Amino acid sequence: MIKINENFNKLQASYLFSDIAKRVTAHQKAHPEQNVIKLGIGDVTRALPDACVKAFHAAVDEMASDASFHGYGPEQGYDFLREAIAKGDYQTRGCNVEAEEVFVSDGAKCDSGNFQEIFSNDITVAIPDPVYPVYVDTNVMAGRTGEAENGRYEGLVYLEANKDNDFIPAIPSEPVDLIYLCFPNNPTGATITHAELKKWVDFARETKSLILYDAAYEAFVQDDSIPRSIYEIEGAREVAVEFKSFSKTAGFTGTRCAYTVVPKECMAYTESGEAVSVHTLWNRRHTTKFNSVSYPVQRAAEAVYSEEGKAQVKELISYYLNNAAYIREKITELGFDCIGGDNSPYIWIDGKMDSWEFFDLLLNKAGVVCTPGAGFGKCGEGYIRISAFNSFDNVKEAMNRISNSI
Ligand code: MLT
Repeated sequence: MIKINENFNKLQASYLFSDIAKRVTAHQKAHPEQNVIKLGIGDVTRALPDACVKAFHAAVDEMASDASFHGYGPEQGYDFLREAIAKGDYQTRGCNVEAEEVFVSDGAKCDSGNFQEIFSNDITVAIPDPVYPVYVDTNVMAGRTGEAENGRYEGLVYLEANKDNDFIPAIPSEPVDLIYLCFPNNPTGATITHAELKKWVDFARETKSLILYDAAYEAFVQDDSIPRSIYEIEGAREVAVEFKSFSKTAGFTGTRCAYTVVPKECMAYTESGEAVSVHTLWNRRHTTKFNSVSYPVQRAAEAVYSEEGKAQVKELISYYLNNAAYIREKITELGFDCIGGDNSPYIWIDGKMDSWEFFDLLLNKAGVVCTPGAGFGKCGEGYIRISAFNSFDNVKEAMNRISNSI
């Protein structure tokens, strides 16, 4: 008899964004006349930068001829892209990251979900609350938790982010082994200073723990005093793995390309305390389970680092940040407290009511989709997240409708 992985029984029936999509589809069926505006899942709406499109086309043409055709590429990604990333996102910003430490993939969601596989099942995992649900669910699937009770899984250490700590969780007082952090934060849009991030790096070095740092939204950082990478912090190379993505930076949500940096100094330990290279472990896992991203997509991603690409990405980011500023302004005018939206595409709003109720209200009365904060954890209760990823006209219309519905 085929038996299931019982850990799956501990999970909520469906993934947050699938759940929301189902509710929205049901609403659209019931109200086909209404034009629903989606500011829920962080899915970009604007076209790929022209530099990426040109590179994409040229690479597809290469695939059309035997002489320039590409079959399987290196599992870790082509050198041209790994080198462009190491130079463009790190070395030119003063961070020591080598091309060999970059693993190209099809998404930060997959990498941040898969990375836990290389660690023991009896480690203690610290996860922020609210949080991008992938970190929690993948650890539940792996069997690192007990059952969920009152929205929290037994065995996880929750790092609470709320108004009292400006949405920056405090270092845990108990020992932990694996720590998930995300800045600019999804879902709150909060950013962290160098000094605050240094505390985490120091803690990880002292305790031989490892930080999985999700920097998928770093391109939205406008303030030079805010770190764009954890490797801006001294000592981080020993204790931090970083996830980044072209999804929100360059509109690749449907094109799929991301990468993970695993510095050679990062170590994890055997039962007997012997240090093992995390880079070696991840390389082993990655080469076994992944065949990298298609050649044309990697060429399109490489174009992000061309002069033309950089200018176009900057314009794209400014466009969404302008939407975010508008949402912030209008929501504040309506009397709600919010954070995010200045160095982030997300605005985290204290809705002063049950967050699913607020979600339903916006959907039913305004025809606007947001994300209920409770879907990101217990500390998200009472909040909603509005995303700036849409056209400015739609954002304007959505905020008008919200003003008229509240
Ligand atoms: C979100 O809305 O939180 C993100 O778009 C989800 C994702 O990137 O997978």
